[in-house]
Amino acid sequence: MAKYIINTEHKKSKINKEIYGHFSEHLGRCIYEGLYVGENSDIPNTNGMRNDVVEALREMRIPVLRWPGGCFADEYHWRDGIGPKENRKKMINTHWGGVVEDNSFGTHEFMELCRQLGCETYINGNVGSGTVQEMSEWVEYMTFNGVSPMASMRAENGHKDAWKVDFFGVGNENWGCGGNMTPEFYGDMYRRYQTYVRQYSDDPEKQIKKIACGANVADTEWTEGVMKTCFRHCEPKFHGFMDGLSLHYYVHPEGWEIKGSATEFDEKVWYKTLAKALYMEDLINMHGTIMDKYDPEKKVAMIVDEWGTWFTVEPGTHPGFLYQQNTMRDALVAGLTLNIFNKHSDRVKMANIAQLVNVLQSVILTEGPKMLKTPTWHIFNMYKYHQDATLLDSYIETETIGEEEEYMVPNLTESASVDADGKLQITITNLSATDSYPVETMITGRKAEKFSAEILCEEMHAKNTFDEPDAVHTKNFDGVEKIHGGLKFTIPACSVLHITVE
Ligand code: AHR
Repeated sequence: MAKYIINTEHKKSKINKEIYGHFSEHLGRCIYEGLYVGENSDIPNTNGMRNDVVEALREMRIPVLRWPGGCFADEYHWRDGIGPKENRKKMINTHWGGVVEDNSFGTHEFMELCRQLGCETYINGNVGSGTVQEMSEWVEYMTFNGVSPMASMRAENGHKDAWKVDFFGVGNENWGCGGNMTPEFYGDMYRRYQTYVRQYSDDPEKQIKKIACGANVADTEWTEGVMKTCFRHCEPKFHGFMDGLSLHYYVHPEGWEIKGSATEFDEKVWYKTLAKALYMEDLINMHGTIMDKYDPEKKVAMIVDEWGTWFTVEPGTHPGFLYQQNTMRDALVAGLTLNIFNKHSDRVKMANIAQLVNVLQSVILTEGPKMLKTPTWHIFNMYKYHQDATLLDSYIETETIGEEEEYMVPNLTESASVDADGKLQITITNLSATDSYPVETMITGRKAEKFSAEILCEEMHAKNTFDEPDAVHTKNFDGVEKIHGGLKFTIPACSVLHITVE
């Protein structure tokens, strides 16, 4: 019997809702087809945005959306995507398949999408191939509410009022596709570019939070170099200078070159994938320790703005479109990673799984007019109750399981929070492909009289398809029993459990 302790009297950090954030790039069928079909499409839409997709994303409470990339961001010139659509420049999407990008989805469309989703906006600017002036004018175009050339241009293009840009990324992966820079060179570029990302409002609620490009996986030299360069020879005034530093980490079970199938895998690969996903915690600790040196008060947020599984593309699909299916393995990766983010919510303030629709670990897949919610969608839907809740101190006893010495994992992961209504929200993953585990939960500081539970539990390869779009879905779980001081239950193999205690 695994002991699980939740101390409701020891409240920890706020779990920012943005930890449940998403990412959408001009890549494959994410923007075009997945989100945006245009006003004249037969697919039901509002101002060009697919109604079915918007509804599904609202249901799981998407809190923030990052756009337009990714690697695409450092080649994106925002002026190409404004004004009458027939006049918009057609260009090659060099990163992603060499296909024609007609720029019919640009700034106005992104802002309209976020309006319909009811989510915050995270715009990623172009440092790699764009100028300081271009970036500065984009910010002016989007956020300045007064008399200025950019504000007039916005009004001429149909939007008189400024929009709110909640987060602004100053470049993307500038150690690679965003310009192949050294950390010191990027640090200097960051200092310069961010200076002209102006705050046009005095309202503290309308300040743009600026995010610097952080490391790839375990590249601590990048983190050290950027932090050192950015905080050298200037007062460390974090807010309005650097509000966040990003981190990118993808799980490729068989490594970057081979990656591995999204749907065909054995138990060895199952554990290998989960072990690699658990590495996220080491990365947070590793980069967090360096950030602590320069920012001991943790004023600079860690922003994991690209994470998730990255498998070999589905057979027969365009290799540059990164379309992959999504199984219970993805659900477990999402569940354990979100538990890690919750537990590190003192430093991790935003995370954006890659990517929203039809690319990598998506929550939604589409095929023509058809749409399905993936197992990963169900995890975000179950975990949404943690958004803006307060993390509680908790500990679960675990056993180490797996098939290969190098890729052993704990059988269980968890996190617990208390939400604004005082409800206790508990999420637990069982990473075993075969075994269930009895768990005895001791809840200190409150009674567990009234509770409910839902579970996502299927065989490890289970997935939703366009023929069977609801094969994997959450179900009520009636296996939770009250015991003295808490609850007990047996968590089935390959499952994610969400318990609410009122
Ligand atoms: O998400 C796909 C790509 O992965 C992004 O464009 C890039 O930032 C990362 O390498």
